[in-house]
Amino acid sequence: MSFDRSIKIAPSILSADFANFGQEIRAVEDQGADWVHVDVMDGHFVPNITFGPATCKAIRPHIRGVMDVHLMISPVDAYIDAFAQSGADFITAHLEAGPHIHRTLQAIRATGAKAGLALNPGTPVEAAKGLLDDVDLVCIMTVNPGFGGQKFIHSQIDKVRALRAMIGDRPVHIEIDGGVDPTTAPLVAEAGADVLVAGSAVFKGGSVSNSAPYGDNIRAIRAAAEAALR
Ligand code: DX5
Ligand code: ZN
Repeated sequence: MSFDRSIKIAPSILSADFANFGQEIRAVEDQGADWVHVDVMDGHFVPNITFGPATCKAIRPHIRGVMDVHLMISPVDAYIDAFAQSGADFITAHLEAGPHIHRTLQAIRATGAKAGLALNPGTPVEAAKGLLDDVDLVCIMTVNPGFGGQKFIHSQIDKVRALRAMIGDRPVHIEIDGGVDPTTAPLVAEAGADVLVAGSAVFKGGSVSNSAPYGDNIRAIRAAAEAALR
């Protein structure tokens, strides 16, 4: 997987039909998705529960591209091997999920997976400073994690800009997660983000038997983001 800063759209299957993940994944990839974002929630770190490594392993063969697993769980370390064995390309853990994030990031990289660091809206971006050589991706949460369909938190845009400057030449992706749609995508793209996660804004209006709206939605987000870079 080579590194580049082009805009990548990563539909979150949190907004997909949970009884049809295989077909939903094929549909969004056929309709232009770059990465597939997989939200793992434990009902403890966040007030919602989704699924675990067994589901990740089951959906992996249906993903042609990049499998981006976002762990909203605490503790993290005991489960890293299981998620790596499920075939995740990126495994992202939250800074707020435990006292030893550096150890967690090292453990993720030791599996051969790429390591992501997620920051909640209330966490200052400076917290990432000492970790930038230990990560492949930093995820700025633009909603409080736990649910799809929430309102984008505009105060996070300044964090994206500061993070972009801190990263410099390092091959580290900046991912935005929460409330991304064609109106907010340009704001974060202009500030330096390259991976745009979108759940409700991708899946709205479509279904596995009518997936053309997924393509329209993905193209609208991408076009809005790329226009901000010109
Ligand atoms: C929120 C999840 C997001 C979520 C985004 O906790 O991490 O990935 O699915 O959903 P939207 O795009 O609907 O805000
Ligand atoms: Zn997510």
